[in-house]
Amino acid sequence: MDRYAVIGHPVEHSKSPLIHAAFARQTGQQIEYGKVQAPLDGFVATVAGLQAQGYCGANVTVPFKFEAYSLATELSERARDAGAVNTLSFKNGGIHGDNTDGVGLVRDILQNLEFSLAGKRVLLLGAGGAAEGVLGPLLQASPALLCIANRSVEKAKAMAARARPVDAELEACSFDALAGKAFDVVINATSSGLSNERLPLPSGLFAADALAYDMMYGRETPFMQYTREEGVQKIADGLGMLVEQAAEAFYVWRQIRPDTASVIAALRTS
Ligand code: ATR
Repeated sequence: MDRYAVIGHPVEHSKSPLIHAAFARQTGQQIEYGKVQAPLDGFVATVAGLQAQGYCGANVTVPFKFEAYSLATELSERARDAGAVNTLSFKNGGIHGDNTDGVGLVRDILQNLEFSLAGKRVLLLGAGGAAEGVLGPLLQASPALLCIANRSVEKAKAMAARARPVDAELEACSFDALAGKAFDVVINATSSGLSNERLPLPSGLFAADALAYDMMYGRETPFMQYTREEGVQKIADGLGMLVEQAAEAFYVWRQIRPDTASVIAALRTS
């Protein structure tokens, strides 16, 4: 059996083992996928331990995605753009680092939610690791405009300055500066839902038929409550993104694309 694991801290609530077990059953791949809690100061030693035991790769979650980026001996282009790694492949003593988060988000929006991003006005809320991880793939989906809004506006500006040049118009602003603007897609990539805090967003932010997307899942966040109050009809949580980023990692490791719709549906009903 080829072995993989998700490394995080905490990691006990991770759904990744369930998701990868479903992918393995579906595709007939002989893999084992576990979870490993690394000590906060022990990520590098934990990875070395997995390599020594013959593991083939690992997913990396909070708070180790930046350390994984530094540890990798080789990086994919999308990992380099994101400045973070969520998928490690152990090969010939080296560590290949990839990032499947952004592609997971974009695939969830385009394929599962059947919502096109091309030519749309997209608002990305947040300028931390989660936002940075999805910026590149969002820009590659050819929106007309991508606006990054963040409480600390200088972080949003720095993030926009680091992005690869694209055709899309790229803006960075504060939450206050959003008054009077309207967007077709609004993505919450802040961690404000974790502390149940409401973002200071103005009314009227959503164009007709807009999509509101919260990258969190598993609970109704204040952002979702706000979108309902604003009358938004299309509201999505991050469960689809979670499954899609896992499917892309599975593809990186096994070169097989699992069916995600059945796994998303099973997780929703469980
Ligand atoms: P993550 O990896 O989840 O992105 P992070 O790198 O710590 O975590 O970034 C957290 C993001 O959520 C930041 O954009 C942060 O805004 P600041 O850069 O101004 O700190 C944002 N955030 C968290 N709580 C927030 C709140 N209550 N209101 C507004 N923004 C918040």
